[in-house]
Amino acid sequence: MSLTNKNVLLGIGGGIAAYKSADLVRRLKERGFDVRVVMSQSAMEFITPLTLQALSGHPVASSLLDPAAEAAMGHIELARWADLVIIAPATANLLARINAGMADELITTTCLATEAPIALCPAMNQQMYRNLATQANLTSLASRGYTLWGPASGSQACGEVGLGRMLEPVDIAELAIQFFASSDAVQLKPLAGQSILITAGPTREAIDPVRYISNHSSGKMGFALAKAAAEMGATVTLVSGPVSLSTPKGVVRIDVESAQNMLDAVMNNVDNKDIFIGCAAVADYRINDVATCKIKKSTEEMQLALVRNPDILATVASLPNRPFVVGFAAETHDVETYARDKLKRKNLNMIAANDVSVAGLGFNADANALRVFWPQGNQDLPATDKLSLARQLLSLIVKEKTNT
Ligand code: C5P
Repeated sequence: MSLTNKNVLLGIGGGIAAYKSADLVRRLKERGFDVRVVMSQSAMEFITPLTLQALSGHPVASSLLDPAAEAAMGHIELARWADLVIIAPATANLLARINAGMADELITTTCLATEAPIALCPAMNQQMYRNLATQANLTSLASRGYTLWGPASGSQACGEVGLGRMLEPVDIAELAIQFFASSDAVQLKPLAGQSILITAGPTREAIDPVRYISNHSSGKMGFALAKAAAEMGATVTLVSGPVSLSTPKGVVRIDVESAQNMLDAVMNNVDNKDIFIGCAAVADYRINDVATCKIKKSTEEMQLALVRNPDILATVASLPNRPFVVGFAAETHDVETYARDKLKRKNLNMIAANDVSVAGLGFNADANALRVFWPQGNQDLPATDKLSLARQLLSLIVKEKTNT
């Protein structure tokens, strides 16, 4: 893919990770992007515009009120020039200002004025990242179509350890490549003519008429897959457990409660499907004998007898004219070993594994990172929002499906 005609506008916020943004300019240029830089006033306390000018080969914009800079390339022109805006580092303060729609300096004004997609690379102290105000800003930005790249987890400049490190420049540059590849993929409609069946969300296993056993799955990953697949031209049927998400445009949705309901819906709809993606967090066990009336408390302890639920994924994989079967694996440790074991044991074409022990990723979160395995290979898809990840996973599925 030629990137020589793609323009990336890098917005640098005022955080210690700004020193890595100089390297990011180099990594983006190495990959063929034309890069221009906008700096916030506070970013210039960490790194000089001269460094960024030398590396990008263009003057650096930082002020809304500089007549010389406006005469060279005005802020609206800059906003129009970009095919992609990357904000790295996106500090807690900058995220809050972008979320509020402020135009208090050039970097925030550019975000308001551009029609280009905007990728935010959060970087801040782990406690600031976890703060509900920051999380609310990120959720609101993601729901308005901003893409989130990272953050990564690890040791921080402040000496603490946790989620909040800016992704490494080389990873951000790779995400930019994948971003253009996946938006081209959406435009090229590589799933046109393909029928896809996807399961999503948790299942609910009734104990009595008012109680149930379930799990923390939000359904966000499965719904992102359904949306991305429809955008890429597929006919999509989504079998969903109980979630509070709206149905993506063009997707046929079937709502179910229990694992047995989900299996029935899948078996009724699997004929002539080209691809099956089991993204649901299906309860492994159900109550053996569901009470018909509400169970009254009497003893100090009570026991519930559970029986194994059918494995929907393995059932589809054992069908004679089976589709291309993709499973998910949520793991807390030894991700590769368990994922590869499941790939083999359930006879899958591909498995996407995520480490649910990382705070802020996976279950119920807006972002995720996946390690994808298939019999002859594997690929890591670094942390990003679930829609971008869904597009990347579907692109991988298209590639591997044509190879099998
Ligand atoms: O074995 P484990 O539950 O970890 O496997 C996860 C994968 O299997 C997911 O793709 C999930 O949707 C699927 N699964 C299923 N039916 C079950 C249990 C898991 O389809 N009863």
